[in-house]
Amino acid sequence: MNILVTGGVGFIGSHTALILLQAGHNVVVLDNLCNSSVETLNRVSQLIGRKPVFVQGDIRDCEMLDRLFLKHSVDAVLHFAGLKAVAESVAQPLRYYDNNVHGSQVLLQACADAGVFNFVFSSSATVYGEPAQMPISEACPVGQPTNPYGRSKLMVEEMLRDVAASDPRWRIAILRYFNPVGAHKSGLMGEDPNGIPNNLLPYIAQVAVGKLQQLAVFGDDYPTADGTGVRDYIHVMDLAEAHLRALEALYTRTGAHVWNLGTGRGYSVLEMVRSFEAASGKPVPYRIAPRRPGDIAACYADPAKAERELGWKAQRGLDEMMRDAWLWQSMNPDGFR
Ligand code: NAD
Ligand code: UFG
Repeated sequence: MNILVTGGVGFIGSHTALILLQAGHNVVVLDNLCNSSVETLNRVSQLIGRKPVFVQGDIRDCEMLDRLFLKHSVDAVLHFAGLKAVAESVAQPLRYYDNNVHGSQVLLQACADAGVFNFVFSSSATVYGEPAQMPISEACPVGQPTNPYGRSKLMVEEMLRDVAASDPRWRIAILRYFNPVGAHKSGLMGEDPNGIPNNLLPYIAQVAVGKLQQLAVFGDDYPTADGTGVRDYIHVMDLAEAHLRALEALYTRTGAHVWNLGTGRGYSVLEMVRSFEAASGKPVPYRIAPRRPGDIAACYADPAKAERELGWKAQRGLDEMMRDAWLWQSMNPDGFR
């Protein structure tokens, strides 16, 4: 297949582009590089001797999209492009709605105009808001996301359901990621956040490598086993593989379908710290800090629907996530720069 990967220079998109190429697909990556470096694609080529076609551009640029669809005969779109920093979305909500919601709308229109109806969207467990039950299955109602980033994901999901209902040619996979972590096992590709990381694992990794002094553990009074927040961390390569399975699942399905992508197992912040220390052999000093506004106590997936319908199950455990994250961080202390 010829697959357009928007945001394919970023963390999850680049690992997925690699897997798609390895599976024999042709890949066109569209990215405006607002949160990534093209060096990522050189690493893909270093690893597998093939590189995606790269188009530098913005998903909101409809004329560029029309040209792209004319030039490359695209069969399916994997849509990763988006802004994802929760705190930034609170400070700059209009930028998030413009980029994530308006951007997705422009992209969908260009797809429809080009007759491309196979579409996979990067959504997030954040759409469940404060979940009423745990583990979270797709049958759980979507809740009230606590920030503009989360609301932008929910709005795009709703747009996708409306679009699917309007025309039976659409085949749409909405993939709700839990907490993606880890890196390619070579240490050549991984997560390269701008500035001080917001997310737990890149923060821990930068403490371990000596770039940051100490982790702040946001709250130790949650109703969890050790009082710290529990999340379902999933290896980015497992996540990437799920996209291939989702594409295949769309061969036999029309309409919009939702799948959770998680492992089904939650780990606390302190468990993550201990596990990273074991994998890296480095200490990760921490202090207990106040809860971070908007955080919930625990969030982990019921991944049974993905296993049943996609034939996909996360294969990599916490040790592998930590080992690969550490290899990437220690080999590339300054990321791709
Ligand atoms: P990332 O920032 O590493 O990758 C996103 C890529 O999209 C970047 O390369 C960026 O330059 C590009 N981009 C952003 N806006 C664009 C635009 N308007 N036009 C073209 N390119 C644009 O992020 P990631 O972690 O790889 O996340 C990929 C997707 O998965 C995002 O949509 C994100 O919201 C979603 N997601 C991520 C997580 C997570 O924790 N990483 C969790 C749930 C969902
Ligand atoms: N945490 C700390 N210290 C830090 C960073 C995080 O204690 O410096 C804690 C948080 O309080 C939380 C856990 O580590 O308990 C995980 O936090 P992350 O910021 O890594 O992840 P979140 O679960 O808050 O959110 C992530 C992404 C969202 C996505 C969501 C669900 O950032 O974009 O997973 O997919 F929506």
